Amino acid sequence: MTKTATLIIDGKTLELPIIEGTQGDRGIDISRLRAETGCITYDPGYMNTGPCKSAITFVDGENGILRYRGYPIEQIAARGSFVETAWLLIFGELPSREQLSRFSAALCEEELLHEDVKHHFEGFPPNGHPMAILSAITNSLGCYHPELLEIESRGEFYLAASKIISKVRTIAAFSYRKSTGRPFMYPNPALSYCRNFLHMMFSIPHKHYDPSPEAVRALSLFLTLHADHEQNCSTSTVRMVGSTQANLFASVSAGICALWGRLHGGANAGVVEMLEQIRDGKTSPKDCIELVKQKKFRLMGFGHRIYKNFDPRARILKDAAHDLLLKLGKLDPLLDIAMELEAAALADPYFTERKLYPNVDFYSGIILRALNIPVSMFPVMFAIGRMPGWIAHWYEENQEQTKIHRPRQVYTGQIIRDYVPIDER
Ligand code: SDX
Repeated sequence: MTKTATLIIDGKTLELPIIEGTQGDRGIDISRLRAETGCITYDPGYMNTGPCKSAITFVDGENGILRYRGYPIEQIAARGSFVETAWLLIFGELPSREQLSRFSAALCEEELLHEDVKHHFEGFPPNGHPMAILSAITNSLGCYHPELLEIESRGEFYLAASKIISKVRTIAAFSYRKSTGRPFMYPNPALSYCRNFLHMMFSIPHKHYDPSPEAVRALSLFLTLHADHEQNCSTSTVRMVGSTQANLFASVSAGICALWGRLHGGANAGVVEMLEQIRDGKTSPKDCIELVKQKKFRLMGFGHRIYKNFDPRARILKDAAHDLLLKLGKLDPLLDIAMELEAAALADPYFTERKLYPNVDFYSGIILRALNIPVSMFPVMFAIGRMPGWIAHWYEENQEQTKIHRPRQVYTGQIIRDYVPIDER
């Protein structure tokens, strides 16, 4: 394969180097383009543009491949845990038993919030959206840990990462408790990461909530599958904010805000709302598909910027949803409706021609419903899962890229004109 790309512009020939990744993906290095030609590239939505090299996650959208640090998602999903995956993404290798034990102990150590943080919750209305609360309080952690606003050592990074990954559960659970009017349930260091979260969500004083091992396993799987996905919008946001040397708390808080959008992490809630509309007879799979074809409706949980084949996470989540409902002895009509909708869409050329398949959000809500997690908390669950990925990318950005992210533009506004005094307008 050629090592350079030739660009001819205004009679000038420019040889642009091609960089190649370890999986054969190639990028044309245009870092000299404007200096040599006066031109920039124009690529709305960055569909063809990579701002960085990265060694964390590999996605092959054409073949439905997802690997965390080289390990196929199918193997990690089947045999790993969320805490182990967090270590893998952040530190690059599967942890030894001793490393995993120390990391788990660090997460236990960091599970409490400063007691003053509770006052922040008092300032929010009971129906305040938990994503707004999560991003606000995550950012405020920097006020309680000023010594970690400037991270200058691996030890400080490890401590900040442990604090965020641990406390994000407590913040999320407290925001849910606030919405229900129930007292905050403090974390219990004797419980595992996921079991502790479910305890904080659903235990009530003097009545311990004891989730089934299947429920704990399903939550760990859910978080593992959401842990990273290379340069998605919210991760790119974290990298962009981190490129200014903003602190880790502020950077992941920005990631939470980006994730909230309906086209991104908010889609899991949109899927359930869509399925409920069908369940309640307000629409049907056939009507949804017709509205999509008339460009009047987007099928939430379908389509993806990268996957032009099945999202491997959707396959795993679909099976896990079935499995969990069976083990919990629960039935959820939304699962049958989702499968009916998927079958109808994939039988229609409109979807297959556009390579629109179920993505990570299409079945994930079924699992969260089975765990009794309310729809408003669905994007929050996505954010808890994505924390290790955001932290890993923030660190990589700070270690390996030294340029602040500052895209250019093609200006299409007014040409120069003189100020007009108000009496002459
Ligand atoms: C996530 O990037 C990541 O990795 C994200 C994520 C992660 O792990 O971080 O994987 C998580 O965000 C998953 C996506 C969740 N969002 C949704 O489910 C919302 C519904 N999906 C879409 O809005 C859309 O598919 C996107 C946003 C996911 C991708 O949009 P693109 O790549 O910009 O594609 P597009 O909007 O240009 O659509 C291409 C064509 C268009 O039709 P034409 O104009 O060519 O005729 O496909 C159509 C679109 O109208 N299309 C859809 C559709 N998605 C695309 N039509 C109906 N329903 C949809 N869901």
